[in-house]
Amino acid sequence: MYKELIQKVAVITGGSKGIGTAISERLGQEGMNVVVNYNSDKKGALEAAEKVEEAGGRSAIIQADVGSEEGVQKMIDFAISKFGGIDLWINNAGMENQHSTHELSLEDWERVINVNLTGVFLGTKAALNHFLEKNKAGSIINISSVHEKIPWPTFAHYAASKGGVKQFTETVAMEYADKNIRINNIGPGAINTPINAAKFADPEKLANTVKMVPMKRIGDPKEVAAAAAWLASDESSYVTGVTLFVDGGMTLYPSFQGGQG
Ligand code: BGC
Repeated sequence: MYKELIQKVAVITGGSKGIGTAISERLGQEGMNVVVNYNSDKKGALEAAEKVEEAGGRSAIIQADVGSEEGVQKMIDFAISKFGGIDLWINNAGMENQHSTHELSLEDWERVINVNLTGVFLGTKAALNHFLEKNKAGSIINISSVHEKIPWPTFAHYAASKGGVKQFTETVAMEYADKNIRINNIGPGAINTPINAAKFADPEKLANTVKMVPMKRIGDPKEVAAAAAWLASDESSYVTGVTLFVDGGMTLYPSFQGGQG
């Protein structure tokens, strides 16, 4: 438990599934007021909100598109009217789909960039303005990916969006460090979430993924949520502009494991 988080207000985008729900629940355990945003999955958002409340926090859900300025403004206004302000903003919403790059449509490219990168910009901008207006310290956490570092053939748009998030976070961290506004990334690896459900249900694909993880297992969303709670807390008060990989070692060149090379 991080006592300083009790009654503080968090907004999390894409909180209706997977890592977003796990983070919401964990912040509920920390006693936070959690605004759970969703795009289309209202049922998932309601379940996440229930988990927050069962864990000991308060919660409210809001539908909004993270890739639009109106959507993000709607979230800010809602959080302020429900809970009086914002202390923590988590850009978690993300999407992926697989296409060879020579066949990747401009539409698919733009959709992924819009949610994964433009959404991070718009959410961050709104949170920054709120913190600056209120002249208060704040924390922003972006859920990036191991693919901000590892290239991923047939996911060029996804990898480009996450690489963009890396530079965005480092730049913004430097720009607002002296205002006591911190911004950090979490880089999850292969985590057991709905985005990966079909892939990990196939034993061959699951085995192929596990081979690329030095710890030889898939991660649990709760393990990502634990990193988010720490980055939100004062225990990380001197940490800004980093990516904390939660990946069982996936970013460490796993093919060298055992001394090959
Ligand atoms: C993706 C997962 C993938 C993992 C490791 C994540 O960013 O969302 O689908 O399994 O990276 O490649």
